[in-house]
Amino acid sequence: MTLYEELKTALTAAGQEQLLRFWPELDENGRGRLAAQIRVLDLRALPELIAGYVLRRPETAVPPDLHPAPYFPATPRNTEEAELYRVAEARGRELIASGRMAALTVAGGQGTRLGFDGPKGTFPIAPVSGKSLFRYFAETLRRAGEKYGHAITWYIMTSELNRQATETFFREHGFFGLEPEQVVFFTQGTMPAIGYDGKLLLAAKDSLALSPDGHGGTLLALRKSGALDRMACEGTDVISYFQVDNPLAPMVHPLFLGLHELQNSEMSAIMLPKTGPFEKLGNFCVSGGKLEIIEYSDLPDDLAQSRNPDGTLRFIAGSPAIHLISRSFVERLTAGGSLRLPWHRADKKVPYVDDAGNPVTPEAPNAVKLESFIFDALPLAERTLVLEGDRAAMFAPTKNRTGVDSVESCRAMLMERDARWLEKAGVRVPRDGAGVLQARVEFSPLAAIDAADAADYVRRTGLREIDPGSERYLE
Ligand code: UD1
Repeated sequence: MTLYEELKTALTAAGQEQLLRFWPELDENGRGRLAAQIRVLDLRALPELIAGYVLRRPETAVPPDLHPAPYFPATPRNTEEAELYRVAEARGRELIASGRMAALTVAGGQGTRLGFDGPKGTFPIAPVSGKSLFRYFAETLRRAGEKYGHAITWYIMTSELNRQATETFFREHGFFGLEPEQVVFFTQGTMPAIGYDGKLLLAAKDSLALSPDGHGGTLLALRKSGALDRMACEGTDVISYFQVDNPLAPMVHPLFLGLHELQNSEMSAIMLPKTGPFEKLGNFCVSGGKLEIIEYSDLPDDLAQSRNPDGTLRFIAGSPAIHLISRSFVERLTAGGSLRLPWHRADKKVPYVDDAGNPVTPEAPNAVKLESFIFDALPLAERTLVLEGDRAAMFAPTKNRTGVDSVESCRAMLMERDARWLEKAGVRVPRDGAGVLQARVEFSPLAAIDAADAADYVRRTGLREIDPGSERYLE
């Protein structure tokens, strides 16, 4: 059987033979590319996927028995809890110092909302120095490694679309002072865009319209890339997971780590009290005794708005997408080389070539992209835990240019956190009557990744005061 015949037979069985429409016109390279893309598709699963998610709009069925999830409060409520937190924090420190924790950043998304051409991690976020998100994380890890006496391996998930640009950025910047072998890139899977008629789209005559398969793809990509084996070899037991858009993410959080271990949790999560019923955060819920996150767009309005007798929101717990995941959990879930997390449908405008071979840029959504979400692994875990976090200390997402969750708000939060560290260490920081900061300050993570580091810095340098209107980069 020729290559063409082989592909044609498989595609016809899946109802997708249109993908070979331009085959006769393609050169060797083009044929090779298209064939490779088709071969990695799970063609047998496709018809069911299309019937369930594209031709029919899947019901976002919210379970009827949905309750707010319990969580450990940020501050212990009684002496027993205080003791647990003390022991947990010490355990967490040991875990880091013995090299049992690795960091993992999901950076495969396309960052379209930011309107930035390039991997989001290369965006210059730091308010004074202009350091990129990747540099900021790298330096945080360098300092943490120094502080805890053990280098921390950093896994970075990219997609096919931004892998090369991401690696080049690291190489060009000397891995920001990390050892190159400390940084492990791995690539998530892709999914084809499916037109509303159930047909896969061609982005070019020799190429499918493909997009990343969602951050749920992390788990299988860890296995397929060999990263999971590497973790086992290095004795990594816990993965500290966070998103590339949040420079305040607590990459190294001893209390969280210690609780995760002491409670034998397989997957843990940080929660933040939401600022309002419709804040765009996933919601921590319990259904059938299992912890799950219901995405903001899926939680019915009446539930989002429901209140406790004291007036507080019932579903108060929002997700900043900060998790601890046990390696053994990932091994269990992906044993056999497959993992089925539910798919989530997104309607998108996907450029394509039409039957006549003309490129089309649609003005309205024309296709479905399917993604899986990491938090859909929560209900699969035997044990989970949720810990309340301090929003001002750990969540400054960069999603948009301006406004809520923007570059602007993120920079303001970074400066505010650093100013609080300085004030705590006795430095006078200028503020107006409303408490708004009147200077621009930034700690290099190499100088301070927490209040204790900042206090050391102040002692060492004798810093007393930040001048109003000044710009200070503290390194
Ligand atoms: C996400 C969460 C939401 C959470 C919020 C916190 C989802 C669906 N929702 O919202 O519950 O409250 O963040 O800020 O995730 N990524 C990949 N590969 C992909 C897709 C995404 O690596 O295929 C990465 C992105 O690079 C980014 C992160 O996942 O680091 C989040 O993706 P994004 O699309 O920005 O999620 P949000 O809708 O903002």
